[in-house]
Amino acid sequence: MAFFIYKMNIINNEIEEYVNSHTQKETKILKEINSDTWKKTINPRMLSGHLQGRFLSMFSQLITPNSIIEIGTFTGYSALCLAEGLPNNGKLYTIDNNEEHLKIAQHNFSKSEYKKNIFIREGEALEIIPEINENFQLAFIDADKENYCKYYEMLMQKIDVNGYIIADNVLWSGKVLDPKDNETKALDDYNKLTYADHRTENYLLPIRDGLMISKKISD
Ligand SMILES: C[S@@+](CC[C@H](N)C(=O)[O-])C[C@H]1O[C@@H](n2cnc3c(N)ncnc32)[C@H](O)[C@@H]1O
Repeated sequence: MAFFIYKMNIINNEIEEYVNSHTQKETKILKEINSDTWKKTINPRMLSGHLQGRFLSMFSQLITPNSIIEIGTFTGYSALCLAEGLPNNGKLYTIDNNEEHLKIAQHNFSKSEYKKNIFIREGEALEIIPEINENFQLAFIDADKENYCKYYEMLMQKIDVNGYIIADNVLWSGKVLDPKDNETKALDDYNKLTYADHRTENYLLPIRDGLMISKKISD
């Protein structure tokens, strides 16, 4: 299993606190998941957190997707944020290859009003994505960085025109400015691939560790 080293101090702690205190509050359940994740998991920084979570929720509510796919569940925080934009009968598929993470996520989902909308798939994302026989209007890539470009190409086959693919950590604590290790190179490759893709319009937002938002404009 790959362990990620998440640093992510692109903005300083004081600014982050100020930003969070002037941003829509987390719901009660998200606040609990955030706090439990910090107490009980080895790498809690993997969780999207307050600002990014509220951004994902707002984005999902703006586009009201019927179907969402997420690569990288962890403790379920971002899935529950994205689910806030689903209609009553909407679906969110979330994939993770770590049994322990999924146990926690399943427990968290079971306490949520979105439990009927969320479908967990356990295993390697590269194997699971082709097995899900759905089209999506929103995808969130937030797993192993080396496979981001492959995930993008697979998801482009399943995203409707006018749908979106959001990828997390694309600034990788600023290391993309001088890519040396494999993860950083993979993220830089991802940014270059999506930017050059004529099928998408791309927006790299410096939220938290960087979100690349790709809007599919043609097949
Ligand atoms: C950054 S965390 C996801 C955080 C979550 N999206 C959130 O914001 O709360 C990345 C997750 O991807 C999972 N993962 C890593 N490589 C994977 C792979 N090849 N296939 C499926 N899941 C993978 C890890 O087990 C981990 O739970």
